[in-house]
Amino acid sequence: MTAQLIDGNQLSKQLRTEVALRAQALKAKGVTPGLAVVLVGDNPASQVYVRNKVKACEDSGLHSVLEKYEAAMTESDLLARVEALNHDPSIHGILVQLPLPAHIDAQKVIEAISPAKDVDGFHIASAGALMTGMPGFWPCTPYGCMKMLQSIGYDLRGKHAVVIGRSNIVGKPMALMLLQQNATVTICHSATPDLKAMTLQADVIVAAVGKRNVLTADMVKPGAVVLDVGMNRNDEGKLCGDVDFEGVKQVASHITPVPGGVGPMTITMLLVNTLEAAERTTKS
Ligand code: GUN
Repeated sequence: MTAQLIDGNQLSKQLRTEVALRAQALKAKGVTPGLAVVLVGDNPASQVYVRNKVKACEDSGLHSVLEKYEAAMTESDLLARVEALNHDPSIHGILVQLPLPAHIDAQKVIEAISPAKDVDGFHIASAGALMTGMPGFWPCTPYGCMKMLQSIGYDLRGKHAVVIGRSNIVGKPMALMLLQQNATVTICHSATPDLKAMTLQADVIVAAVGKRNVLTADMVKPGAVVLDVGMNRNDEGKLCGDVDFEGVKQVASHITPVPGGVGPMTITMLLVNTLEAAERTTKS
């Protein structure tokens, strides 16, 4: 069996068309959805990420501003910028790119963002909203994974989902989203003694560790759905995920590629969250 690909580029294109239409409708009401992206320092990967985020906004008709600051920026200056953006009516979403320089407390900065503008979904108010099923913003990467499952018509009720990785950004929120859709969820991590014994029971596997070949074909039940959140480089310097794609695609029913899988969906869900933030301002 060869797995069907879940194409993140194609799904993103569909969703971004919907975002552009909704943005147009909001503009007709006098509200242009706006995202502020804040970058501190010159981390090369972060520079690429923020450029892609700003370009995606422009392509979908969203307003975006990119604020770049030197690595030496003080924490209090950054907090003051966040506070100014909280009060800027042209900005509906605020994203402070991580990682931040070591002298800045990233969690303190995240907590300074107004929950109404927390389009990354990293604020503890957003985390609490997700945990309790209240309205809020879902972190973009796991949200994108849920959209990918939805795109293949996958019903999670009663299924066993195994999430590999327990980060605040992907693993933990992913597990909560799967739980909300009535899956039985197991979270595996570096202290899990027998990962294979867990993954072999899974109907859905989400690999989000940041390490190549964490999931190989012998660890996957035939017909399982495999989502690969990893973003790594192989020995030839080529982009690859956490999953041994060539092996696992012989066993799984559906699989996401890297690149072209979860990656583009993360930015797409950032656009969706920003649009949602702007729409909410017109409803209250
Ligand atoms: N750094 C890597 N991924 C992300 C993300 O999704 N949001 C932010 N703010 N920083 C990141």
